[in-house]
Amino acid sequence: MDSAPKDMCGIVGYIGSKEATDVVVEGLRALEYRGYDSTGIACIEDSGNAKLLKQSGRVDNLISLIKESAPRSHVAIGHTRWATHGLPNSVNAHPHANNNQDIFVVHNGIIENYQELKEQLIKNGYIFKSQTDSEIIPNLIDYYVRQIGSFEKGLSAALNDLKGAFAIAVIAKNKPKTIYAAKVSSPLVIGVGKNKEYILASDPNAILEHTKEVVFLEDGDLAVIGPDKLKIYNFKKSNKKKPKLELLDYDQEKASLGQFPNFMLKEIFEAPKTIQSAILGRVRPDEKIIKLGGLEGVSTQLNYIDRIVIVACGTSYYAGLVGEYIIEDIAGIPVEVQLASEFKYRNEPFSRSTMLLAISQSGETADTIAALEKVKDFGCLRLGIINTTGSTIARLTDAGVYCHAGPERAVASTKAFIAQVTVLTLIALYLSKGNNKNYTKLLEELISLPQKAQDVIDLAPEIKKIALKYKNYRSFLFIGRGYGYPSALEGALKLKEISYIHAEGYAAGEMKHGPLALIDKDFPTFAIATNTNDLDKIMSNIEEIRARGGPVVAVATKGNKAIKRLVQDVIYIPKTLSHTQPLLLATIMQLFSYYIAEAKKVDIDHPRNLAKSVTVE
Ligand code: G6P
Repeated sequence: MDSAPKDMCGIVGYIGSKEATDVVVEGLRALEYRGYDSTGIACIEDSGNAKLLKQSGRVDNLISLIKESAPRSHVAIGHTRWATHGLPNSVNAHPHANNNQDIFVVHNGIIENYQELKEQLIKNGYIFKSQTDSEIIPNLIDYYVRQIGSFEKGLSAALNDLKGAFAIAVIAKNKPKTIYAAKVSSPLVIGVGKNKEYILASDPNAILEHTKEVVFLEDGDLAVIGPDKLKIYNFKKSNKKKPKLELLDYDQEKASLGQFPNFMLKEIFEAPKTIQSAILGRVRPDEKIIKLGGLEGVSTQLNYIDRIVIVACGTSYYAGLVGEYIIEDIAGIPVEVQLASEFKYRNEPFSRSTMLLAISQSGETADTIAALEKVKDFGCLRLGIINTTGSTIARLTDAGVYCHAGPERAVASTKAFIAQVTVLTLIALYLSKGNNKNYTKLLEELISLPQKAQDVIDLAPEIKKIALKYKNYRSFLFIGRGYGYPSALEGALKLKEISYIHAEGYAAGEMKHGPLALIDKDFPTFAIATNTNDLDKIMSNIEEIRARGGPVVAVATKGNKAIKRLVQDVIYIPKTLSHTQPLLLATIMQLFSYYIAEAKKVDIDHPRNLAKSVTVE
């Protein structure tokens, strides 16, 4: 089977008075940031003809195809596909059609029993062209519609046969004024626009431009969209539901690049604004309090928490590691950070006084969702630090604190990390109830941080010069101690994600236990040597590296002249508390990786093989 994690793909559908293919293509563009390798669209033209256009490559290529065929239609569905196995070619691209070419389906997710269903359909005379599991869906619908004699009932029967996670949109030549949509464990949302138009998408980013009024489909929902109305059934129980209209609480800033060549650089440069938005209205220096509206409803429960388990993936996991240091240090509550992909399969004791804290930019990461679901019946509190409002994790958790970083487009996470660490700092202060000697200092430091972040951004030309010296190395070590350690891990991740240079993050204290063996003139180290109680120790680590001929780039705090004699290159950050250093360090390492990637001419916003939102295991 084509085991592509199609859930990372994008679905868009439109029905209304505008040219449907134009709206769908614009929606697909808004989902490009997720990463994809092929695209396609199907529409029912006003003449009654059905058109199916698909190809491997970018949305721009699809637009050329559409222009050539000049469809006139008010009903269309489209898809961006992200493949890992099975060629990203036009046959495997979505939409898929039944043998009769009159039912079209786009699909996110995995149909686990597709092999079995395919064999049955083959026995019934159906022929398959692609390597995908998705192609069985239009044929299965076709099969049941013929058996039952009703499109809606046939579709429902087909949906009941599918096992696995899926979100699908369906159009049919015989139903020229309707889009059908259904989902199980994969997101799908319907935007209700003006003049009775509907925009369907797997990600609200494709809807924002048209409307903020939306209906989130729930597992088991089958939506019948148009003409002029929206009906929702539960396809498992066949009962009708009243669509629940919600308002998207999105920052509607249209993701335009402005003066920037790509989203990653734009988002790195947003660091000062990101910190500002995360603390806005929450840090009250005059009253010396932290106000977190999202936690008010659970404030009593929080009094009984004696352990916190943080679950997350990728960059959010590293933000969690920084959070572990801050919460333990400031609030004195033991914290454990786990990769969500590990947590969900572990059999560990979990008491009701343990709180699960999920961190996620997208709010749609499958492993993080699974971690939350695992503890659903444990009776413990589940909190979220999420950037995307209305996302699955935001809806699954009991309470939480939003990041307010605005949409993040580049696959490699930058400003979301900054926002997550800022929010974790706020939560640490909140949980401490002021009972920490550094409480006031840290609270006040947060206020001065946006300006310090701007001072770091202003170093971009200098960081670029340094980065270019290192662009041809094949491996890199990132080291740090204390707050510098999780920062080093995230720095290494950034470098490998976008510049494809092998990089490893290590606790500097571990150098003698292995990594020192790697050091020679061809193996550079990025050392975090900012002012902390451990500074002399990290300086000794740097000495050891230097003694073995290893080139070193260091980040130090302004005023540390001694380090200049030890290393090839130094980048200075403004003085700040050790707790808030990760917020400034992150920007430096993001820029360092960015400029190497730029010099290597890689597609920075869409690094190869990676997707923005990993919504399947
Ligand atoms: C993907 C993205 C990363 C992100 C990770 C977790 O791997 O490319 O940038 O850190 O998923 O995503 P989340 O949305 O849960 O923070």
